[in-house]
Amino acid sequence: MGGYGVSLVGHCHPKVVKAIKEQCERLITCHGSLYNDKRAELLENLMKIAPKGLNKVFLSNSGAEAVECAIKVAVKYTGKSEIISMVRGFHGKTLGALSATWNPKYRDPFKHILSRSFKFAPFGRLDEVKEAITEDTAAIIVEPIQGEGGVHVAPEGYLEGLRKICDENNIVLIFDEIQTGFGRTGRMWASEHWGVTPDIMCVAKAMGGGIPIGATIAKEDIMDSLKVGEHTSTFGGNPLACAAACATINAIIEENLVERARFLGDRFKGLLQGLVEEFNILREARGLGLMLGLEARIDVYSILMRALERLTLIHI
Ligand SMILES: Cc1ncc(COP(=O)(O)O)c(C=O)c1O
Repeated sequence: MGGYGVSLVGHCHPKVVKAIKEQCERLITCHGSLYNDKRAELLENLMKIAPKGLNKVFLSNSGAEAVECAIKVAVKYTGKSEIISMVRGFHGKTLGALSATWNPKYRDPFKHILSRSFKFAPFGRLDEVKEAITEDTAAIIVEPIQGEGGVHVAPEGYLEGLRKICDENNIVLIFDEIQTGFGRTGRMWASEHWGVTPDIMCVAKAMGGGIPIGATIAKEDIMDSLKVGEHTSTFGGNPLACAAACATINAIIEENLVERARFLGDRFKGLLQGLVEEFNILREARGLGLMLGLEARIDVYSILMRALERLTLIHI
């Protein structure tokens, strides 16, 4: 299993293992108040691949943390307090990120302490987003392809429309590319499929080749609204994680994994579509690159659990 979308370069990629080993013997931790060469190298690497205009980075340790930072930055920059998120959207399970996450299964046990500043609009429908906007809307947060929500690709014109709405209303557009980023969809960033650049982008998951790391990448003036000390992380940007992330990004580029995801994804999706046509229990194959989903007309949970049980028995 790919570790909930982490292992884009596989498990124990030799370049990542080597980088971790080497860094381990030099310096494992170094807080953000001091310069560190590996952190600098990672920031430089990120700037080479980040969408144009997104040029300031906050490093953290997970996807949820990358989202927390994005929310705080957007609120601080605009001086407003409401966030619009999408039905079926998933952004993590810490309190801020969970407030932006739609699934009642995750929200309901904690709903009494979730932020009331978040509203949900149906994914893919611009009119409902326009209706949800008020004078106090600070940000819109969206996954270009909803992952955990069931692999739903943004319909044509949707992200472009959100960009326009945000520009016209001084609202910060946040793309959560935590699952879609680093080539999984056949482009380095899913937003490239539509040619739309957000104001803030959240990344994590595959970034460290298996080592925890996340990043919030924003336009400089937006990120600069956070003053020193207003948002920090003890472990964020530690040299060990940065070394792993540098090696992972290099592997993705040197081994042409983005193009490979596009090529294999097209073939794989074609095969899945063939299955959908052949078997009535399958409803639809969706996705871009190697971020693919196959929806069935039946509940597959028990089948997956049985398959896992059998796998466990085999390993014992
Ligand atoms: C789109 C998206 N955002 C945020 C997260 C949260 O990331 P993490 O589990 O690293 O906190 C996930 C994790 O599945 C995700 O898919």
